[in-house]
Amino acid sequence: MKHFLSVDDVSDPEALVNEALAYKKNPHRDRQLGSGKTLGMIFLNPSLRTRVSTQVAARNLGMEVIVFNIDKEGWQLEFADGTVMDGSTTEHVKEAAAVLGQYFDILSIRTFPALRNREEDYSEHVINQFVRYAGVPVVSLESATLHPLQSLADLVTIRELCDNGRRPRVVLTWAPHVRALPQAVPNSFVQWMNRWNKADLVITHPEGYELDPRYAGNAVVETNQDKALEGADFVYVKNWSSVKHYGQILSRDPSWMITTEKLKVTNHAKVMHCLPVRRNLVIADDVLDSDASVVVLQAGNRVWAAQAVLSEILRKL
Ligand code: CP
Repeated sequence: MKHFLSVDDVSDPEALVNEALAYKKNPHRDRQLGSGKTLGMIFLNPSLRTRVSTQVAARNLGMEVIVFNIDKEGWQLEFADGTVMDGSTTEHVKEAAAVLGQYFDILSIRTFPALRNREEDYSEHVINQFVRYAGVPVVSLESATLHPLQSLADLVTIRELCDNGRRPRVVLTWAPHVRALPQAVPNSFVQWMNRWNKADLVITHPEGYELDPRYAGNAVVETNQDKALEGADFVYVKNWSSVKHYGQILSRDPSWMITTEKLKVTNHAKVMHCLPVRRNLVIADDVLDSDASVVVLQAGNRVWAAQAVLSEILRKL
């Protein structure tokens, strides 16, 4: 693995899941692997889990970590080619990425979409410019359209809770939200699930919330949420904004919130969410405070997912 931007950078997702679970059992078994190496973590947007779990993972491998909130502490970056920089931007990504690449052995970056221009966001023009100019491996800490470290942790969680050889039924359900959110988590989850092919996936959402077909592939879509939930072993809850009417909120229908009542038709489903989650808007208290919720376990698995990815890259340096 050279870069880690999507599941397309992974030759064998199942092997990576197993690697993550092996690190969960023995976190310090490769503590010399990253000795003398530095991970740079560049944030253009906020983070709790990604920021801390990736630092823990890097340190478990013996790496040094430098975190840089470039949006608040760096110069304002320019990403367009050929711009006369006489406005608010001070430094071009061509220099910034190249300079940062001199300081780090692996550069990781979080960059959310603006949700104004679908073509621009889906071209991944920000993270791709870091890949182009940094000259070192780049790890996505969530880009405009994908969140691969989250998805790997999601697969690890499903495997950990369903290790009986049976193909679980996994339902990805849209839920309401007050803000327009990116599609990165659902895009990435569906893309990984399709490649992993160890579970039966159903996506449910209101009309107008169809995911981009390049990620959704041939995944089954059922717009009746109650029907989709029938027999589910896992219910992955997430809001996203519309792809078709790009970045817009088309529905705030509260009946899509996941409650204990809704889960009655499932197979005692475990409830997943990438976090942060808005209680009683996306998922009800009675679910999050019950044994059905695995959101904290899922967030804990972010460490092992990041450690598996960093170790793969370190072995190739
Ligand atoms: N799930 C996730 O990526 O959490 P953070 O945004 O807090 O990193």
